[in-house]
Amino acid sequence: MCAEIAAQAAPVLILLGPPGAGKGTQARLLQEAHGYVQLSTGDLLREAVANGTAAGQAAKAVMAAGGLVSDDIVIAILSERLDQPDTAQGVILDGFPRTTVQAQALDQLLQTRGQRINAAISLEVDDAQMVTRISGRFTCGGCGEGYHDQFKAPATPGQCDKCGGTDFKRRADDNAETVGSRLAAYHAQTAPLISYYEGKGVLSGVDAMGDIAAIQASLANIISRATA
Ligand code: AP5
Repeated sequence: MCAEIAAQAAPVLILLGPPGAGKGTQARLLQEAHGYVQLSTGDLLREAVANGTAAGQAAKAVMAAGGLVSDDIVIAILSERLDQPDTAQGVILDGFPRTTVQAQALDQLLQTRGQRINAAISLEVDDAQMVTRISGRFTCGGCGEGYHDQFKAPATPGQCDKCGGTDFKRRADDNAETVGSRLAAYHAQTAPLISYYEGKGVLSGVDAMGDIAAIQASLANIISRATA
């Protein structure tokens, strides 16, 4: 693959970070601002569970316990999603890769598509803040917009700012016991990817303890340099 082809290919951006770091929040903002498509393996797996597919049935108990779903299942789901035509605009990977095996599989998938990783951005949040963020999280059941009891409440209580919906949901795995397991899985299996992408020269770290707009501005700067 020549460098010119890779430079023109649809951008690939990775958001790394522990549960509650703000990956989904920022991915949705990037999607709105730049047209890149958010690919969340968590959302794809929750959809598979809801639809009762074979992958969903295999993933359900693991997700409820806060562990990581097997690499084979997640790589297959992500690969299938990457084949959809809307990804030609560029993608933001939210929650993938999460293991070294997944990172290596992604390298191969992109190579066959003539693409490369433009940036892997690590959202840095301390563990206590992560628990606070997750325990206050809820989303609109109509459009998926994310909210927080303390940090991002709807302007009109009980009504979604985006679609006006009034049906809000809380995730089954957002409980104190499961959050501990999810955090442990992050430190043991996902945090090593920071060095992996540092070695490839595509890593940027962002202090994700600040407010949502400030983090969004930092990401926009990184992405504009990485996709120039
Ligand atoms: P997944 O759905 O990916 O969950 P996660 O990684 O645990 O991340 P979260 O969605 O909990 O957090 P987030 O970083 O998106 O934060 P958010 O923006 O919502 O995965 C769920 C499960 O699926 C996994 O446990 C695993 O079992 C399985 N899975 C998924 N991918 C897999 C893979 N690749 N391999 C294997 N298994 C996989 O923000 C959180 C809250 O904080 C929100 O309320 C938000 O409003 C608020 N907030 C955000 N930013 C800020 C800020 N700057 N200040 C204040 N509040 C903020």
